[in-house]
Amino acid sequence: MSEPLPPLAAIPAGIASLADYEARAAAHMAADAWAYLQEGTGDGITLAENRKAFARLRLLPRILTDLRGGNTALDLLGRIHEAPLLLGPVAYQRLAHPEGELATVRAATALGTGMVVSTLSSFTLEEIADAARGAAQELGVAVPPLWFQLYLQEDRAFSAELIQRAEAAGYEAVMLTVDASIKRATLTLPPGVDAANLRGMPRLRQTAGAGGRILFGTPLADSAPGWSDLAWVRSQTSLPLLLKGVMAAPDGVEAIAQGVDALVVSNHGGRVLDGMPSALDVMPAIADATGGRVPLLMDGGVRRGTDMAKALALGASSVLLGRPQVHALAVAGLAGVAHMLHMLRAELELTMAQLGCPTPGDISADRLFTAPQ
Ligand code: FNR
Repeated sequence: MSEPLPPLAAIPAGIASLADYEARAAAHMAADAWAYLQEGTGDGITLAENRKAFARLRLLPRILTDLRGGNTALDLLGRIHEAPLLLGPVAYQRLAHPEGELATVRAATALGTGMVVSTLSSFTLEEIADAARGAAQELGVAVPPLWFQLYLQEDRAFSAELIQRAEAAGYEAVMLTVDASIKRATLTLPPGVDAANLRGMPRLRQTAGAGGRILFGTPLADSAPGWSDLAWVRSQTSLPLLLKGVMAAPDGVEAIAQGVDALVVSNHGGRVLDGMPSALDVMPAIADATGGRVPLLMDGGVRRGTDMAKALALGASSVLLGRPQVHALAVAGLAGVAHMLHMLRAELELTMAQLGCPTPGDISADRLFTAPQ
């Protein structure tokens, strides 16, 4: 097996889309880390569906629209975001680049893009927030919105500690992910990559063979989070709380009743239950059931500015990016991630102008084409 290529010091020629970074990234990562990044579970039905769902939709532009004053900014949870786009939580970014999340957050800062830092980040949440502040100062720009993604720890004291650390480090929201507590671990981390935030905290093994049990009856199943844990997290912080992994409308309604401030509609990039639909396809039902009471974010398969427009037309306030940030990071580090974000932002603006939508709020369902029955 050949050694991965080192990251490039500059953006390589010939990259014109997020797919171009993906095509080059494999050569810059170890084979097992690449497989971990790209995988979907089972037969990859859901992973494929995430892209197919975008490809199925058609956009319907309106002509001769006044585009003066147009911009991509939006208010999300009390903060202005420059575009309806955040870097979503992706674990262990040092698998792709020695500077891992530090390079990613510096790129996000340069582009004024929010970033959600994973519980399983390979630098500590404090180091990542410091890197954002340092980059902001150096570039003379504002620190972008930084949110902390929480995986509940078996011991509530450790979960509480993570929330307190995130608050102290200046994170502006907590995103609780609940769709991956039962998930097979597929990667043995190489030396130098660890769950930096969890040093010193005991962790459950993801598969338990004791007593011949498969899953039910094991500590992993018995300690899986429930609704009471959501209520507990809500009680632990006054920061805005987002719930990630909502796919069924009644769950969204219940979460709002429990005081969640925003929902993240997501099938975890096709990495958990194979056979789920795409987040895009469940958006209309969730938007209907929740009636605009909280913002809806979505992720899974977003690779183009036109994808962003389709998600917004179906009721999303913003989208999150998963794998593309790691593709760009592996190829060209900070410069790659910044370039990737810029390309997507440029595609979004072009799409909005061509659709006749001067602001994200103008992208509504009437910009989607429905074939006559
Ligand atoms: C993820 N995802 C994820 N989600 C989360 O809440 N916490 C995490 O630590 C991780 N880690 C993670 C690692 C890797 C390698 C991948 C690919 C994904 C899920 C992620 O936030 C997001 O939901 C999907 O990646 C979105 O799909 P796309 O953009 O990758 O198609």
